[in-house]
Amino acid sequence: MALNILYRGPEERGQYWQTLFAQNLPHVNWHTWPNVADKDTIDMLVCWIPPREYQQDYPNLKVLFSVGAGVDQLKVNEVPEHIQIVRMLDPGIQQGMTEFVSMSVLNIHRNTLAYVNMNKQAQWQQLPQKRTAEVRVGIMGLGNLGLGAATGLLNLGFKVAGWSKTAKQLSAVECYSGQEQLTAFLQQTDILVCLLPLTDETRGILNHRTLSCLPKGASVINVGRGEHIVEQDLVELLDQEHLRYAILDVFAKEPLDIDHVYWQHPQIWVTPHVAAITQNDSAGQALLGNVQRYLNNQAMLGAVERTLGY
Ligand code: NAP
Ligand code: GLV
Repeated sequence: MALNILYRGPEERGQYWQTLFAQNLPHVNWHTWPNVADKDTIDMLVCWIPPREYQQDYPNLKVLFSVGAGVDQLKVNEVPEHIQIVRMLDPGIQQGMTEFVSMSVLNIHRNTLAYVNMNKQAQWQQLPQKRTAEVRVGIMGLGNLGLGAATGLLNLGFKVAGWSKTAKQLSAVECYSGQEQLTAFLQQTDILVCLLPLTDETRGILNHRTLSCLPKGASVINVGRGEHIVEQDLVELLDQEHLRYAILDVFAKEPLDIDHVYWQHPQIWVTPHVAAITQNDSAGQALLGNVQRYLNNQAMLGAVERTLGY
């Protein structure tokens, strides 16, 4: 029986991947949502957000592929057990995230936000400047993207620590794990980078209590998901000058409302969920590789552990 893949997403990416599959796996049928003649034939769905009612509409679905590194948007808990969930392990996403985190940490370290604000008032003032070796960056999440970011920051000379669910040992990165080591990790962090997946355990993890554990003058970069942060608590700690800057790429509601307090806040820099974009070429290769593994009865890369939710 032929394998049938249904793609839902931007047209340009769909065409690129359809061509890639036609060249490499010509016996696999590629369909573009919503154009499916026989919905019963669909084996795999490739999407960011699945179509409504997809479980009923495609009753023989076996694999749900996220086009992104995260899977929270698929509502993992609601996907039936017989459908395997696979996330995108795209080297292009990892490279993009390493660039974005490096840029953001450097912008905080080099006072870019302060200089931009001073520019607007034609204010000539030189701020004190530390060396990178004196600045401690703490990364929440030491997965595919956290590890890439850590390498980039080490190359720039920063002191890097990381926090994960399970204990790790990494050369040059001071590793913390579990709830019991979270406070100690935060207390030694000058610039915090959130690169956690969104799960029941991590939703709201950056709140008044945890953010207060950061040393006075610390800054926060959120490139995980908006719901990791309790917005009001972050703004309060910035206003009280316990925190210095926040660079935020992800939000509980996207696009961010035009009247959201973040936009005009002088210590906040907003970017529109662009830290790491799925790259058609490298992500296409990752998808192709996984479909080949599936056809050869091999484990796919990026398979989601349901009990963990990531
Ligand atoms: P990953 O490889 O699954 O790594 C997740 C890391 O988080 C792991 O180190 C894991 O610990 C840790 N973790 C999970 N739950 C935890 C908990 N309760 N306590 C402590 N640590 C916990 O994920 P990834 O590929 O690095 O991606 C991370 C996230 O980045 C994605 O889920 C997505 O939300 C976000 N993202 C954002 C963008 C953007 O453009 N802003 C782009 C791509 C991805 P263990 O190692 O012990 O399992
Ligand atoms: C983007 O946010 C992703 O999860 O890839």
